[in-house]
Amino acid sequence: MSGKHQAAILPQKGGPLSVVDRATPEPGPNDVLIEVRAIALNPVDYYQRDLSMPPIPSYPAVVGSDVAGLVVKLGSNVSNAPPAGSRASAFASSFYQDGSPDHGAFQKYVLAQSEGVIALPDALSFEEGAVLPLAVLTALSGWTTIGIPFGTKYTPQDKQAVLIWGGASSVGTFAVQSAKLMGFIVYATASAKNHEYLKKLGADVVFDYKASDVVSQIIDTVKNDGVTLRTASCVVEGSLQPTLDVLKSTKGDAVAKVAHAPPLLPGAPTLEGAEIKFVLPPMDPVERSDHMYKCFHVWLRDGLNSGTVVPSPHVQVEAGSLEGLNKALDTLKAGVSGTKIVVQV
Ligand SMILES: NC(=O)c1ccc[n+]([C@@H]2O[C@H](COP(=O)([O-])OP(=O)(O)OC[C@H]3O[C@@H](n4cnc5c(N)ncnc54)[C@H](OP(=O)(O)O)[C@@H]3O)[C@@H](O)[C@H]2O)c1
Repeated sequence: MSGKHQAAILPQKGGPLSVVDRATPEPGPNDVLIEVRAIALNPVDYYQRDLSMPPIPSYPAVVGSDVAGLVVKLGSNVSNAPPAGSRASAFASSFYQDGSPDHGAFQKYVLAQSEGVIALPDALSFEEGAVLPLAVLTALSGWTTIGIPFGTKYTPQDKQAVLIWGGASSVGTFAVQSAKLMGFIVYATASAKNHEYLKKLGADVVFDYKASDVVSQIIDTVKNDGVTLRTASCVVEGSLQPTLDVLKSTKGDAVAKVAHAPPLLPGAPTLEGAEIKFVLPPMDPVERSDHMYKCFHVWLRDGLNSGTVVPSPHVQVEAGSLEGLNKALDTLKAGVSGTKIVVQV
């Protein structure tokens, strides 16, 4: 494949994105070249556009992580990805590729490492396929970061509960789905209008985080249900303090484990007897590839094929293709509720 394609590049720190032609790359040995049909947006995309956070090593850059499209070409060592012509969902992130602009999602042709590329079932649209990768990776990495391995399976008799604060966020919906599949009794927080949706995804009880007594509501429910609650996933900013307030009353003598998806800033709340860890996939590239394989090629692919995992939250399509990405990012920055913004390309 040779030639050029359109890309929404980040020309310099602070943006805005600008649509230009870029040379279409050949896939490296472990890469898959994807023709992008849909891009889903994540908060990290506007953090990188506006603040260069996490740091961007060089400009012009191409940011973004989540795409779905058609497989065009496989790298010479790729044996685990769907063949050319397949519909696919792909984790395409320059962040884990030393900032390589060929690997950033915001363009018509992108490279993705093969461990992050899976076939999209016929029943799912490209838009649904795009919402999956980063949110799935983050939700599952949350569990492994706090020592809950892949394959964990509790029985109802174990009465192990988990608290997911921010259940209606993109990451939160997959934290709910994955926790349910592991056999946890799932408590989540969300605005009232998202409660029924989260119950469909697997939450047992959903609490309105805007209620002034939400912490005591959760503590009372744990006591009434007779369950053990010492595990939590803090998915959204502002979730750590109320989560620790709950765990203080429910963890007993055990060490509580808390996964924290937003950056853990200096001065963040703490609790004696609680381990709070920032969520990240393994930093070692070999370990990370293995982790991504388990997330995408095992958990997600098997889950989609069997119907035990569904794309979530609801797709919210924003207009304008690559030219519309600046406005779509501003819309995300202003706040979404139970939706994931997707741009068709
Ligand atoms: N560590 C990593 O590698 C990594 C990777 C990806 C994302 N992240 C971080 O994870 C966080 C979530 O990202 P996302 O894309 O999933 O977010 P998102 O979908 O944009 O989050 C929006 C949702 O957050 C919920 N929410 C907001 N404030 C809340 C509160 N105080 N309590 C409970 N729910 C609240 C809202 O729920 P309602 O509508 O129900 O009110 C809304 O649906 C972000 O901080 C992101 O930067 C980290």
